[in-house]
Amino acid sequence: CKGINGLDKVVLREPRGSTAEVYLYGAHVTSWKNDHGEELLFVSSKAMFKPPKAIRGGIPVCFPQFGSHGSLEQHGFARNRFWSIDTDPPPFPTNSKSFIDLILKPSEEDVQKWPHSYEFRLRVALGTGGDLMLTSRIRNTNADGKPFTFTFAYHTYFSVSDISEVRVEGLETLDYLDNLQNKERSTEQGDALTFESEVDKTYLGTPTKIAILDHEKKRTFVLRKDGLPDAVVWNPWDKKAKTMADFGDDEYKHMLCVEAAVVGKPITLKPGEEWKGRLELSAVPSSYCSGQ
Ligand code: BG6
Repeated sequence: CKGINGLDKVVLREPRGSTAEVYLYGAHVTSWKNDHGEELLFVSSKAMFKPPKAIRGGIPVCFPQFGSHGSLEQHGFARNRFWSIDTDPPPFPTNSKSFIDLILKPSEEDVQKWPHSYEFRLRVALGTGGDLMLTSRIRNTNADGKPFTFTFAYHTYFSVSDISEVRVEGLETLDYLDNLQNKERSTEQGDALTFESEVDKTYLGTPTKIAILDHEKKRTFVLRKDGLPDAVVWNPWDKKAKTMADFGDDEYKHMLCVEAAVVGKPITLKPGEEWKGRLELSAVPSSYCSGQ
């Protein structure tokens, strides 16, 4: 059906009531609601939904480059291309019937920028119970025998009640690249992460499970990831927020990006080889004493 500004979108529904919305522009998940109809992702009230600008919020897909780790535009170009629907996708191996497969192949213009041929299949699925599952399969289809190398992220914007009350568990004591300090490498000290200023860090070699605890909402997001060794944590805070045209000045209080990624060791694929990166998100009510 049609979304904002007439852009095509697909709505997934799961029998118990949870939903997800995916725009073909960017294969961008812009909404994920639980069975109470509560929105779990953050999308800016100033998001433009206007190509070629990427949508601010939801889950942009960063490919073939994460951030400024290379010579391409920031976060690559997959997030501002129109993807197509695979109307005859391979069957789903689990019990979810609510899924969509989107496909990206390079245009002639893309080949000028990044001289490779590939097929990128992104499957977005709602599991029973409302979990959101994203599976990317990227295959090198180069006919010239050449390998290619890429970095990647699911740039997930979570909706949180108050960033000052949020804790992230699973990244403590890990090495990270500080994107605010010229990608300088440091080690995280101490306890679970809390937030009181701008943060832009790429944690390297993280556990497969990361949790975001939102005490005020009594909700915990659990990320489970496979094939995605790294995790980026980003919040622009007030000053940076003011410089972003498609982001409200105070919206930083209500979002946190925790991005399952491949940054530290880029993926190289030979022709015919395929890479798979999977992210599973669940939102569970947290008990009163969790994290204390
Ligand atoms: C994060 C990066 O993933 O995305 C930040 O680590 C960046 O450095 C942020 O500012 C937003 O990027 P963009 O291109 O969507 O404004």
